[in-house]
Amino acid sequence: MGNQITFTVDGKIINAAEGEMLLWTALDNDIYIPHLCGERNEKERPASCRLCFVEVDGRPAPMPACTLPVSEGLVVKTRSERVDALVAAGFELLMSNHRLDCKNCPANGNCELQRIAKARKLRLKPKNLPVLDKGLPVDDSAPGILYDPNKCVLCGRCIRACRHSGNGVLGFTRRGFERIVATFGDLPLGDSGCQGCGDCAEACPIGALAKKA
Ligand code: FES
Repeated sequence: MGNQITFTVDGKIINAAEGEMLLWTALDNDIYIPHLCGERNEKERPASCRLCFVEVDGRPAPMPACTLPVSEGLVVKTRSERVDALVAAGFELLMSNHRLDCKNCPANGNCELQRIAKARKLRLKPKNLPVLDKGLPVDDSAPGILYDPNKCVLCGRCIRACRHSGNGVLGFTRRGFERIVATFGDLPLGDSGCQGCGDCAEACPIGALAKKA
């Protein structure tokens, strides 16, 4: 990582190593920016959830904070009309593909979707879009792991965790609304070579993958 540099986020002066991604430096300084797909120590940065938008002085459009390296003198705002509209639209889209069942969800109270909704005063239940439930079966075939694909918002963290664990049984499959995280050949987790290490459940920010109670 580079030299220590200084920049501002929402008027707060921040020191960080040059080149670090803005998202993590903001979070380190108690400035919350919604995020789902980004992971701090991960080289792969898909920037696919589109929730971490910020305004940067001198840039014509909001930018994802998870792929924005900090540099000397950067001036960032985490909120603006444009940012709020983008985050609200992105969040509503995600929630239109998420089976909402907080009461019975193992992630209830420790869910990134709940955190985002609270921080940005957004509704968990979409207002403008219909909820499209995939109607897929919950997979409880693996030892210790429960997978509900109807809750998955495709952040991809479980896929990376599974790969790092050395198992590599998870991946994205299908397209559009049908897109899901699944095992090779769509086998139930228990028949896929999954070792039940639970790293995927640890990585899941929302309870689509969870450790069995
Ligand atoms: Fe930046 Fe997902 S965390 S786009």
